[in-house]
Amino acid sequence: MSAKPSSPVVLPDVASLRAAVRAWRANGERVALAPTMGALHAGHASLVREGLRRADRVVASIFVNPTQFAPTEDFSKYPRTFDADLATLGAAGCDACFAPGVADMYPQGFATTVTLEGPAKVDLEDHFRPTHFAGVATVVAKLLNQAQADCAIFGEKDYQQLKVITRMARDLDIPTEIVGAPTVREADGLALSSRNVYLSADERARAPALHGALRMAAGKIAAGEVVGHEMTEARELLAEAGFVVDYIEARHAETLERIARRADGPIRLLAAARLGQTRLIDNIPV
Ligand code: PAJ
Repeated sequence: MSAKPSSPVVLPDVASLRAAVRAWRANGERVALAPTMGALHAGHASLVREGLRRADRVVASIFVNPTQFAPTEDFSKYPRTFDADLATLGAAGCDACFAPGVADMYPQGFATTVTLEGPAKVDLEDHFRPTHFAGVATVVAKLLNQAQADCAIFGEKDYQQLKVITRMARDLDIPTEIVGAPTVREADGLALSSRNVYLSADERARAPALHGALRMAAGKIAAGEVVGHEMTEARELLAEAGFVVDYIEARHAETLERIARRADGPIRLLAAARLGQTRLIDNIPV
């Protein structure tokens, strides 16, 4: 194995990304891509490390993608912490950071969007963020084509996103293997998220109840309790903890279709709920 640089090389445009990947390939090295929007934490770093288990080189991309934010969402105030992000990537052993500008990704006249069905139309995130996955899929299709990596690593934290991207890559014959990596959590169970910084001290103290409610329901369903009943109870638990619940549901782990009985599984429990202004999402297997 080659020695890893302590700080990743910054690749500011597609030409420099392609040149770097070409040089590694010419050396017989496998390449992994880890797409992000920056504001990196240990969850993102785990994607880099998963990439290093599967490839010789890892490129992380940092691009706050405007097309996946609705006008009412937090695009302009999304945290931007580029220098700290480079340090996080370097510590995880990342080789390069692809950091294009908006004009590189969406040049004048840009006119093409990926249209989605299947796991993108199941009444979960798509119900609350109707334009979100078209923006995600379009930018991820571009990133996959730009990097031409052997594999690309996505977190299970955004489980519906992982399923949407896996389906898209299969349907559009994108040869990069899509790999899911487990959710990294705080000691109290709260899934790491760039949005956790928005939580007040009181909200932060309540936030682990999201994972708690999912775990409680998953445990009982695994023990044979009725799915619908457990999900109602989980919803009530969240409301008691001060959440406004967007959804907390049991779905088929692959198709994300509704599921009523454990025998129709594998089951994944998925939830989105708001504490004040902050919207948290989480999911676990049964
Ligand atoms: P972002 O929210 O920055 O997340 C980048 C990647 O990190 C995603 O694959 C996400 O699932 C993963 N991730 C986030 N929190 C995690 C955690 N606690 N444990 C493990 N993985 C975690 O998701 C996006 O950006 C964008 O939609 C993107 C795919 C980059 C397209 O713009």
